[in-house]
Amino acid sequence: MKAVRYHRYGDESVLRHEEAERPTAGEGQVLVRVAATAFNPVDVAIRAGYLSSAFPLSFPHVPGFDVAGTVVEVGDGVTAFSSGDEVIGFLPMDRDGAAAEFVAAPADVLAMAPVRAALTDAASLPSAGLTAWQALHEHAQLQSGQRLLVNGAGGSVGGYAVQLAHEAGAAVTAVVGPRDVDRVRRYGVERVVDRTQEPVTDAVDVPVDAVLDLAPVSPADAAALMAGVRPGGVYVTTVPGAPVEPVGDIRVVSMFVRSDASQLAGLVQRVDAGRLQMHVAETLPLGELASVHARSAGGQLHGKVVLVP
Ligand SMILES: NC(=O)c1ccc[n+]([C@@H]2O[C@H](COP(=O)([O-])OP(=O)(O)OC[C@H]3O[C@@H](n4cnc5c(N)ncnc54)[C@H](OP(=O)(O)O)[C@@H]3O)[C@@H](O)[C@H]2O)c1
Repeated sequence: MKAVRYHRYGDESVLRHEEAERPTAGEGQVLVRVAATAFNPVDVAIRAGYLSSAFPLSFPHVPGFDVAGTVVEVGDGVTAFSSGDEVIGFLPMDRDGAAAEFVAAPADVLAMAPVRAALTDAASLPSAGLTAWQALHEHAQLQSGQRLLVNGAGGSVGGYAVQLAHEAGAAVTAVVGPRDVDRVRRYGVERVVDRTQEPVTDAVDVPVDAVLDLAPVSPADAAALMAGVRPGGVYVTTVPGAPVEPVGDIRVVSMFVRSDASQLAGLVQRVDAGRLQMHVAETLPLGELASVHARSAGGQLHGKVVLVP
């Protein structure tokens, strides 16, 4: 099969689109014919070796921890899925991923794919949707009637977060770049702040119960956002290395997403019910993964990219 792999850590030139052995479904696994994988910003840091202690890789490594595809082989002990099922999942980040024609996936991280969306688009949902869900419901413990500010709301995680927060009954302020103002406004947010027109430090006009920070902010901006949280409120960041020194009496959480098939199935239900929109900015051939990494590192990537083998 064709796969993108790297044989050592390095810049994007280590990514090779090459022949690789097709995996088989081991115990507890299914073999998935990949319809698409998704690019995530952390892929660049993993490939560069910055996260080698958190995610030790064995080489050659196939990246791509988000998958959407079709089950073609079922391993021993798997009863939840059959050949032909269309599935999505957030795969273990330290194992071979879905930047390939086939991936052997643990069955217990998979959910049935949405039926009312293109299977390739559904690769955009697993890790980003789970991050949004866990940030709001596990870390911020968001309640109906609360006020939430999402910084970086135009991105992959942010798009899901504002929709899920609106569904939960929160009043959402979304801080976005100019290209995302109109789309994010359609997600039911109370206020959209274009960060090129209004500094993020002015975005909190009344104290909020929670901030979800998804953007690489300066320590000064992070402090200003924290200062907008009411006493007893919470500031949740997903950004690796973000400032996490609390200001005043607030809870500060630096979170890391985990795979959860039942939460993912809940997100799929929302997509099928029309309550959660997926937004894919670009669908590209898998062979372009190296250029996607380069564009991300250069700050030239905007919105979710899915890659089709
Ligand atoms: N800890 C975890 O478990 C976890 C899980 C998922 C993601 N993450 C991290 O969370 C962050 C968001 O992920 P993502 O997939 O949503 O990324 P993404 O799709 O690239 O979105 C990032 C968003 O932040 C915006 N942004 C960039 N600079 C900003 C600034 N200075 N102020 C305000 N907004 C700014 C971008 O706007 P423009 O496009 O207009 O530049 C973009 O909409 C990334 O750092 C990612 O690595 C962490």
